[in-house]
Amino acid sequence: MKKVLIIGATSAIAQHCAQLWARRGDELYLVARNQELLKTIASDLKAKGAAETHIHHMDLNEIDNHFAMLKKAEETLSDIDTVLIAHGTLSNQKICEQSVVQTIAEMQTNALSIISLLTHIANLFEIKRSGTIAVISSVAGDRGRKSNYVYGSSKAMITSFTSGLRQRLNKANVAVVTIKPGFVNTPMTATLKKGLLWVKPEFVSAKIVKAIDQRKDEVYIPSLWWLIMTIIKIIPENIFKRINI
Ligand SMILES: NC(=O)c1ccc[n+]([C@@H]2O[C@H](COP(=O)([O-])OP(=O)(O)OC[C@H]3O[C@@H](n4cnc5c(N)ncnc54)[C@H](OP(=O)(O)O)[C@@H]3O)[C@@H](O)[C@H]2O)c1
Repeated sequence: MKKVLIIGATSAIAQHCAQLWARRGDELYLVARNQELLKTIASDLKAKGAAETHIHHMDLNEIDNHFAMLKKAEETLSDIDTVLIAHGTLSNQKICEQSVVQTIAEMQTNALSIISLLTHIANLFEIKRSGTIAVISSVAGDRGRKSNYVYGSSKAMITSFTSGLRQRLNKANVAVVTIKPGFVNTPMTATLKKGLLWVKPEFVSAKIVKAIDQRKDEVYIPSLWWLIMTIIKIIPENIFKRINI
C-alpha cells in the first residue's frame, strides 16, 4: 500500500489518478480549496477501495500555510511515498496582456505556489532519502507562443525547476517526475474548440500513474507531443516570430 499526497485533488486529471490509486488500496491525503467537492471525492475514493482518505481544505496560493499542510499530511499518513501536484489555472492571455496584476496572479498559481511546495517537499524527502514527487507541467512550457505565453512561461518555470530538482535529489534516491500533457478535455479547457490531438483525462491519468510507478524523469502525454514540441523548439526565432502556431 502506498501513501499518496495529492495537491490540487479536485482537478479532473488528479481525480482520475486518485481513482487508480484507490482501486489499488492506497491511502490518500487530498488537498484542495473546494471543501464540499473534496468530501464527495474522498467518500467516492473510499468506496472504490482506498485504504483511507483524508481531506485538507486550503487555497494553494496561501504559501505561508504550505509547510503546515505538509507536516499535517506527513503526520496523518505516518510517511508520504508519493506526491502529485496538479492544481493550475489556464490563464486568459488577452486579459493578462492588459493587466500586470492578472499576469502576476497567474504566475503565483501556476509557478510560485508550486515552487514553494516543491521546496518544502524536496527537503522532507531528501532527509528520508526516498519518495517520488510528480508535477503536472505542460507542453506549453516548451516554447513561449503569442497565444498563451503567460501560462506557457509559468509552466516553463516548473519544467526547469523540476529538472534542477531531479538532478539535486538523484543521489538522495528521490524521483522527480515532470509531466507534460498536451490538450486534455477537462473543466480547464471546457470552452476551447476540440480537435484531433485532444485526449480524455482517464488516458492522461493512466500514463501519469505508470510514469510515477516507473520513476520516469519526464513524460509527454500522449508521447507524440515529444515529436511535435521537438519540431516547434528547433524553428529559428526569426521564423518563429512570423508564424501563427
Ligand atoms: N487540461 C489540459 O489540457 C492540460 C494540459 C496540460 C497541463 N494541464 C495541467 O494539468 C493540471 C490539472 O488541470 P486539469 O486539466 O485537471 O484542470 P481542472 O480540472 O480545471 O483542475 C484545475 C484544478 O486546480 C485547482 N486550483 C486552481 N487554483 C487553485 C488554488 N489557488 N488553490 C487550490 N486549488 C486551485 C482548481 O480548483 P477549483 O475548482 O477550486 O478552482 C481545480 O481543481 C493543471 O496544472 C494544468 O495546468 C492541463
